[in-house]
Amino acid sequence: MDKPAVKFSVTDSSSTKTCSASVVVVPFFKAGKGDSVKMTTNSADLLGADKNGLLKTAKAMNFTAKKHEAVVLPAPSGVKKCDFVILLGLGEAKELGSLCLEKAGAVLTDTANKHKFTHIQIVLPTAKDGIKDITDADIAGRFATGLMLKNYRFETYKAKDSRTNAKDVLSHVDMACVDAKAADAEVKKQIAIAEGTYLVRTFVNEPPNELLPHLFAKKIEKLFAKTPVKTTLIGEKKLKAMGADLLLSVGQASTSESHLVVMEYNGTGNKKSQPLALVGKGVCFDTGGNNIKSFTGMLDMKADMGGAAVVVSTMKSLAARKAKVHVVGIVGLVENMVAGNATRPSDIVKSLSGKTVEILNTDAEGRLVLADAMWYVQDKYKPSHMIDLATLTGAIITALGGEYAGGFTNDDAMVKALEAAGKTSNEPVWNLPICKAYETQMDSDIADVKNLGNSSLGAGSATAACFLKRFVQDGVKWTHLDIAGTTLIKGSWAHMDKGATGYGARLLNDYIAQNFEK
Ligand code: BES
Ligand code: MN
Ligand code: ZN
Repeated sequence: MDKPAVKFSVTDSSSTKTCSASVVVVPFFKAGKGDSVKMTTNSADLLGADKNGLLKTAKAMNFTAKKHEAVVLPAPSGVKKCDFVILLGLGEAKELGSLCLEKAGAVLTDTANKHKFTHIQIVLPTAKDGIKDITDADIAGRFATGLMLKNYRFETYKAKDSRTNAKDVLSHVDMACVDAKAADAEVKKQIAIAEGTYLVRTFVNEPPNELLPHLFAKKIEKLFAKTPVKTTLIGEKKLKAMGADLLLSVGQASTSESHLVVMEYNGTGNKKSQPLALVGKGVCFDTGGNNIKSFTGMLDMKADMGGAAVVVSTMKSLAARKAKVHVVGIVGLVENMVAGNATRPSDIVKSLSGKTVEILNTDAEGRLVLADAMWYVQDKYKPSHMIDLATLTGAIITALGGEYAGGFTNDDAMVKALEAAGKTSNEPVWNLPICKAYETQMDSDIADVKNLGNSSLGAGSATAACFLKRFVQDGVKWTHLDIAGTTLIKGSWAHMDKGATGYGARLLNDYIAQNFEK
């Protein structure tokens, strides 16, 4: 089930007098001193006199309302229509933040699925409970996000009878809250954004034999067939004719045709408006080429198209919500393989920009693909801003792990805006530096630029960014996001299971909404 399958309905808590599901979630906060706990006001209202028995049981079971503690109990006998309650711990009310709420939603998905509860009702906490700086609508939205993100599964390639039975997992969530109208709108918005995350995850989770460059290109074309997104596929013949040899050099040992795919969406009503460009690395599989990777190094390389997946998904979301923005997405789709005609370390290849590149390591291929994709989109669409997203370097994993993407820029205000969007979307970005000493490492003795820094000097993510910077045109505000660490996770996190995270879709949605849709 890789499609969102949870239906949400939002009602006004003042008129919610009876339980609407056989399982009711009762949120609790810590009451201040010691281990005492406090039931939220709305759920106390709903449970009425029966709440006292429940409080007694909670105490007897040592339930302390720790963040994300969930306990399933039979419902007090007086509560009509309800068989079970889930006591949900949310910690201290005044410290409640958006990430905590998302994780609480995720915990509910896990709890519900474990017990095969398909329909739950949540009586949401409100400002009355002492929550600060977060609106009721936002509380609903964040719960919905967490519930959705954790309820994703990728089971396309499993036998039908070993897939999760859709009838056994959470499929209906009722939310009761004070400002139902605003909350309903926010929940709808967050579901749409989470669907964007689902789409990224599914692209990334696909095995590489099913998502070869030409197949990915076709899928994108189909995805946008009846939408306002104008899609153009540029295959090898055209790429050769225009001189995108750098991109072609990466894919030349693959039997699948390399592609640039351009997706243009203009919701501004002004054809001449300067667009934002989104550029995605779409290396559908990265063996390393002649600088071949080790067994473990190659394991996750089906995910090397994560940047492209984020760009495609973002274009889809923008069109779906009819955003009043002009955005051009471009993805470079190639497969970095080994064969007799593969690039040799030392080959010199001319880029679309005209600059020659000495390819000293065929495993530093993402930057080659991006250089031509970035040049093409700048030449043809004259963007004011350009963001590239790429699973570019292992070094960014050393620096930031899976928590933050690394952001490199030629415009401080732009990366600050992305960091701000990282906070609101819970997909954080950390700005890392570019400087002369890194830039000069990319000088080649015999060509205009080389694709490898001096590895003994470290800073491999920054030198990769410096390579890209040579292909940014004057006046274009540019940020490179290295998402190598955030695209896949190995263990399960509170709000997602192992595999593709979908990182980037939520970040770009917030960034665009906050900076271009004003
Ligand atoms: N796709 C890899 C980067 C990567 C590594 C992504 C691990 C996700 C997890 C990239 O193409 C690559 O191989 N980079 C090299 C660059 C080096 C040769 C300069 C790297 O990081 O080792
Ligand atoms: Mn590589
Ligand atoms: Zn790569």
